[in-house]
Amino acid sequence: MPTNVVLIPGDGIGPEVAEAAQRVIDAAGADISWTVRHAGEAAIAAGEKQLLPQSTLDLIEEYGVALKGPCTTPVGTGFRSVNVLLRKTLDLYAAVRPIRSMAGVETRYQGVDLVIIRENTEGLYAGIENEITRGVATSIKVATEHACRRIADYAFRYARERGRSKVSVFHKANIMKLTDGMFVRCAREVHEARYPDIGYDEYIIDAACMRMVQDPTRFDVILAENLYGDIMSDLCAGLVGGLGVTPGANIGEKGAVFEAVHGSAPDIAGKGVANPLALVMSGVMMLNWLSASRGAPHFREAAARIRGAYDRALVEGAVTRDLGGTLGTMEFADALVARM
Ligand code: NAI
Repeated sequence: MPTNVVLIPGDGIGPEVAEAAQRVIDAAGADISWTVRHAGEAAIAAGEKQLLPQSTLDLIEEYGVALKGPCTTPVGTGFRSVNVLLRKTLDLYAAVRPIRSMAGVETRYQGVDLVIIRENTEGLYAGIENEITRGVATSIKVATEHACRRIADYAFRYARERGRSKVSVFHKANIMKLTDGMFVRCAREVHEARYPDIGYDEYIIDAACMRMVQDPTRFDVILAENLYGDIMSDLCAGLVGGLGVTPGANIGEKGAVFEAVHGSAPDIAGKGVANPLALVMSGVMMLNWLSASRGAPHFREAAARIRGAYDRALVEGAVTRDLGGTLGTMEFADALVARM
């Protein structure tokens, strides 16, 4: 029986990279039955009334898993964010973003291998903003003990299950004593009570940025609230070759949505030049997650085939423009298929 997965193409480069990722995953022999559902501007274009249609949410809840392209969020005006709403509505509380140096991708750093675990449901992304009076606006940062403990537990569990040695908390608790203070306190308590075998340290976020660009190899698992995790994800993507090589997952108790860190890249949308690798790598994360959560080893084998193919393609220079190559989006997908 094929496994049902929701495919959300998204906006901008989304449909291009989603088609490429689907082709690669199918060619790897993962037995998946894809159902396309829309979100973002693409939903309105498809005749839906909402940017995040209920039918899309319902099907993700039913299947428990989706592969998602990026959705556009206008700056400064309009709807809050389809992505933020999706994560919050489905309670996908843990964003997992592995950042790894890869042979064949030239960067300033070597040997980077870290994972950002970002709290995905609250902080400033709670979206509670008010215009108090003309010229004065506020944005409220939300932290709850429940969410702080839950994400801390996820990060330490992730570290232990994958043989990682240390969790570093990035925060600004010196200024935001109640919200970030709670985040740090919960991390300390969870560490002491349940994960004393895992190393633990704390960095104030501004100093963390400086240390990260000085030597990213000093970090292992990074635990951060929503905003810091978001910004740090793009910063770290830049350390290993850019947004074209940075995958991600949004994990909850009842399901998961896998998506690249990058956005809809309007500057290159429709040109067939976007790098689909980040979404392909998100697909590999999805296959490994399916293997673990559904007890189906063939997904892990398919994931290994894809990983072997892109490791080879990168070393051989069969890459897209952002990595210094000449291949288009689907040409790169074909290059991976040819190497499986
Ligand atoms: P972006 O990630 O879309 O683009 C930043 C830069 O990276 C651009 O120069 C773009 O061409 C390049 N880039 C991104 N992905 C690439 C790929 N796969 N291959 C080659 N080059 C790539 O970030 P930006 O411009 O800040 O956001 C554009 C839109 O995407 C906004 O509406 C934003 O809200 C949305 N967005 C959506 C996300 C999601 O759906 N999860 C995540 C981040 C942004």
